[in-house]
Amino acid sequence: MKILVTGGAGFIGSNFIRFLFRERPEIGVINLDRLTYAGNLENLEGWEELAGTNYRFVRGDIADPKILEEVWAANPIDAVINFAAESHVDRSIESAGDFIRTNVTGTLALLEAARKHGVKRFLQISTDEVYGSLGPTGKFVETSPLSPRSPYSASKAGADLLGLAFFETYQLPVLITRCSNNYGPYQFPEKLIPLMISNALEDKPLPVYGDGLQVRDWIHVEDHCRALLLVLEKGTPGEVYNVGGGNEWPNIEIVKLILGALGKPDSLIKYVADRPGHDRRYAIDFTRIERELGWRPRVDFAKGIKETIDWYVKNKSWWGRIKSGEYQKYYEKMYGWRIKK
Ligand code: NAD
Ligand code: TYD
Repeated sequence: MKILVTGGAGFIGSNFIRFLFRERPEIGVINLDRLTYAGNLENLEGWEELAGTNYRFVRGDIADPKILEEVWAANPIDAVINFAAESHVDRSIESAGDFIRTNVTGTLALLEAARKHGVKRFLQISTDEVYGSLGPTGKFVETSPLSPRSPYSASKAGADLLGLAFFETYQLPVLITRCSNNYGPYQFPEKLIPLMISNALEDKPLPVYGDGLQVRDWIHVEDHCRALLLVLEKGTPGEVYNVGGGNEWPNIEIVKLILGALGKPDSLIKYVADRPGHDRRYAIDFTRIERELGWRPRVDFAKGIKETIDWYVKNKSWWGRIKSGEYQKYYEKMYGWRIKK
């Protein structure tokens, strides 16, 4: 069995490859990643040797049909798992072009290659953000209307619809998972949790958007990976599976929890201008995957977040390298205007 994992040098993709080596060492992995700003081969350091000949890295763009042809010509591929994406909402608000190119055109190119060569499974990794924003009550179910509100979520919804269309039109065995906000090791420090931990460790301000009362449902990346392997192996093609942590938190509470764990003062919190079109609340109903595949989140949040904070404390060299250099320019661009306001 050989799996083409795209975006395997990013946060969830690299955690998934490590998870797969542990759980299914017999499965071969081809990791196709363009290595954008978010792709980092350090996320997989040490694992390449462990996996021996079962692992191969290819640097390439999922939107490039030529690279896909080369990958397929070199390897018999049984399944595709598409993690590759532009994934940060704030960047999509600054500039949407790369999001359409990778998330929509790239997914289409992968679907076409998978169809041409025939695969047993095509797992599209999607997000709860395609459903839009919730009021104070209710949860997203798989049949909730798609109502994306940012260029990022619109591009992910486009990819989902293409996947479902390939299932209906060409019977390509496409499966889709829509997960809530992940946390854990190796998350790029532009996302809420690693940004807040790393800023707190450097005694820098913690930029909280708007009133900080937006709610997200946090799930440990390990629980997400376990759900993905289950859906890959046992899910029904053509179906969508919601995956969530059952763990809703207002952003400001997460930020205070991090400060408390690090022994840093709340005075580091800096309320800044809100994200345009900021989704107020996400919450996931994961009854289907629980009922049909027996999945439930297992990682207790208090334990998972403590271990995650400890990981970033111990791995300052990992995020320190990222936050110096190019990322610094990004930070100025994204937060300069917010903080001046
Ligand atoms: P990430 O930004 O950390 O990683 C994305 C990876 O994709 C990077 O390694 C990058 O180099 C690669 N990539 C980008 N464009 C590419 C291209 N054109 N060709 C090949 N590789 C390319 O993202 P993540 O947080 O690991 O998210 C992975 C997937 O999970 C995404 O599809 C995202 O939409 C989805 N998702 C993320 C979350 C979350 O909380 N992070 C929640 C639900 C769903
Ligand atoms: P993020 O990690 O970007 O994930 P998403 O937007 O996909 O949910 O943000 C999580 C929440 O944290 C979101 O409501 C925006 C908020 N946030 C801040 O308040 N300050 C920040 O600096 C960032 C990056 C996010």
